[in-house]
Amino acid sequence: MRLTIFGSGYVGLVTGACFAEAGNNVLCVDVDERKVEMLKRGESPIFEPGLTELLKKNIAAGRITFTTDAAEGVKHGLFQFIAVGTPPDEDGSADLKYVLAVAESIGTHINEYRVVVTKSTVPVGTADKVKAKIDATLKARGVSFEFDVVSNPEFLKEGAAINDFMKPDRVVVGTDNPRTGELLKALYDPFTRSRDRMIVMDVRSSELTKYAANAMLATKISFMNELASLAERMGADIEKVRLGIGSDPRIGYHFIYPGAGYGGSCFPKDVQALSRSARDHSFNAELLNAVEGVNKRQKEVLFEKIQRYFDGKLKGRTIALWGLAFKPNTDDMREAPSRVLMERLWEAGAKVRAYDPVAAHETQRIYGERPDFAIVNSAPEALQGADALAIITEWQEFRSPDFEAIKSALTQPVIFDGRNLYDPAFVKRFGLSYYAIGRGDSLC
Ligand SMILES: NC(=O)c1ccc[n+]([C@@H]2O[C@H](COP(=O)([O-])OP(=O)(O)OC[C@H]3O[C@@H](n4cnc5c(N)ncnc54)[C@H](O)[C@@H]3O)[C@@H](O)[C@H]2O)c1
Repeated sequence: MRLTIFGSGYVGLVTGACFAEAGNNVLCVDVDERKVEMLKRGESPIFEPGLTELLKKNIAAGRITFTTDAAEGVKHGLFQFIAVGTPPDEDGSADLKYVLAVAESIGTHINEYRVVVTKSTVPVGTADKVKAKIDATLKARGVSFEFDVVSNPEFLKEGAAINDFMKPDRVVVGTDNPRTGELLKALYDPFTRSRDRMIVMDVRSSELTKYAANAMLATKISFMNELASLAERMGADIEKVRLGIGSDPRIGYHFIYPGAGYGGSCFPKDVQALSRSARDHSFNAELLNAVEGVNKRQKEVLFEKIQRYFDGKLKGRTIALWGLAFKPNTDDMREAPSRVLMERLWEAGAKVRAYDPVAAHETQRIYGERPDFAIVNSAPEALQGADALAIITEWQEFRSPDFEAIKSALTQPVIFDGRNLYDPAFVKRFGLSYYAIGRGDSLC
């Protein structure tokens, strides 16, 4: 089948590469010329495991191509996927300007039947706005063509995006037209062969499903972070509590890890956007507001511990930072807890020596060169000349470090662990002080 995908970011590129891998003919459209040029050379502008290989293979096979030309995009595909960003507006609601710009392009260039598929995470009612925008553009052109607007939210996780797309738990399709439901079913069939994983519903329920999923996951995390703060103050160990509750199948082990707060391009903005949508419907989403509030507070916790340890005197100190990305296996720095930590440290006059296996480039792009910031090439190098170590991303390579080397490199033998990677008793055996999240320490 012929597909056009607007937006070559984390979602659009993975979607395009995976559909091409299944044998479809995919054209990716992006407004960012630099990205499109890189992609034409077979280079991925983002880090996502397996993506470069998949792109190269399908470019060579002629199944995926890239352009900045929206007209070419609208002409190419029966399916017109919208996978552009929906960043937060000033008040936290989802900004639909990119989605509606694509709708306008489709209205401007359409000249035969098209299925417009919204893959971006968008508030309930957006499909109606997309349809209205295309209708208005057609009216201005004085022409009329048939088209359908379908909601098909994406549930992939950065870092495991290709596997998630290739073997989805479910494919949610929101449509009011059974014919487009069938077309989408044929398109997704190669990915759902072992059993039917497509859940077809009305458009509004589909749009809400995506927010509901992210809000539920964010709620689990904030709940555990709140409990971690309680555990600290009550002399309990949240990791024991986690095991104790996770073993209940009604609760489960997923997403109950306490930490330095959730980040990334989805949870923070989606929880916020859902809460703002609720307000537009004259409803105060108290739980969602609390989830957001707890997360904001949690992102400060590691800094507060560091500050207390140094009696508020951080000026001139150097903190080694392991991890920058909002989670392992991605270079995505959007809303990353590391950003809050670094910014607080800088405000307090401290320096940061950071290491991340893949997010160095993106972090440097955000912060540029500054005298109180060094990004180095390895975890041991980050320790050189540092007073203390803080860990903020749970990369695999940080899980079994050389504690002797950490102790001898730091001027103060102390680790602040925002991801609870180690057994506190084990670390203390090396003569290191160890402060983690919710493990009954004295710095809360
Ligand atoms: N990143 C994730 O893990 C994830 C997962 C599920 C859903 N989503 C949702 O998918 C959407 C896209 O997210 P992302 O992380 O891929 O965003 P992204 O910022 O990585 O990519 C968006 C791309 O769209 C391009 N773009 C903007 N306007 C355009 C236009 N008019 N025509 C063509 N391209 C245009 C941008 O240049 C950019 O390359 C968002 O709504 C997000 O909430 C993201």
